[in-house]
Amino acid sequence: MNTASLLDPTSPAAERLQAPQAWAIRRASCSDVPEVKRLFLKLHAFNAALDPRFALSEAWEPRFEAAIERALCGDEAMCLLAYEASTGRPCGFALAAVHRDSDMWRYREWVEVEALYVENAWHGCGLADALVTQTSAWANSQGQTVVQLYVTASNERAIRFYRHEGFQTTQAIMRKIIA
Ligand SMILES: CC(C)(COP(=O)(O)OP(=O)(O)OC[C@H]1O[C@@H](n2cnc3c(N)ncnc32)[C@H](O)[C@@H]1OP(=O)(O)O)[C@@H](O)C(=O)NCCC(=O)NCCS
Repeated sequence: MNTASLLDPTSPAAERLQAPQAWAIRRASCSDVPEVKRLFLKLHAFNAALDPRFALSEAWEPRFEAAIERALCGDEAMCLLAYEASTGRPCGFALAAVHRDSDMWRYREWVEVEALYVENAWHGCGLADALVTQTSAWANSQGQTVVQLYVTASNERAIRFYRHEGFQTTQAIMRKIIA
């Protein structure tokens, strides 16, 4: 089944799918940082609505800027920006980085998708699939063989999406609020 057949043909997402190359993706550059920040804030408002413990702290902005700086300049992280091809308006992003565990573990490196967000109007267009596919290609180019991520248990759409992308649940975080 392709994505187009899943959509209401009159929806904005279906109309965009009819248009040739409605969106495009590029590696983010310094001039994209304000737009990536805007999308990152929307992602975290969404996440915090699902789970208040994902609320950003007061220190979020310099930490975010450091993470983006690393993604723009380093080899071990990267940021993709998706934009509407006809206007250049950003509509999604992915942020990923190589993570390393202690060397007491045999398998201790992976690429983590630290953030993935597509604006609502662009859901169901195949854009999220392209962001994840390009992230996996980048991970492969880094010699990494595993891509993983955290997803909130109640984020059902994202979980369905990731399963379609071939992700499987391998561990679960269990939480008990004790005070
Ligand atoms: C998660 C997110 C990036 C996914 O992008 P998307 O464009 O919504 O994803 P898709 O539409 O391609 O996939 C989700 C839906 O399509 C279906 N789908 C995707 N690929 C499919 C396929 N090959 N065959 C059948 N169904 C498929 C999924 O089952 C799901 O269906 P639904 O209509 O029942 O919900 C996007 O929803 C988003 O940004 N959400 C808010 C932020 C967020 O949750 N980020 C992830 C945090 S970990």
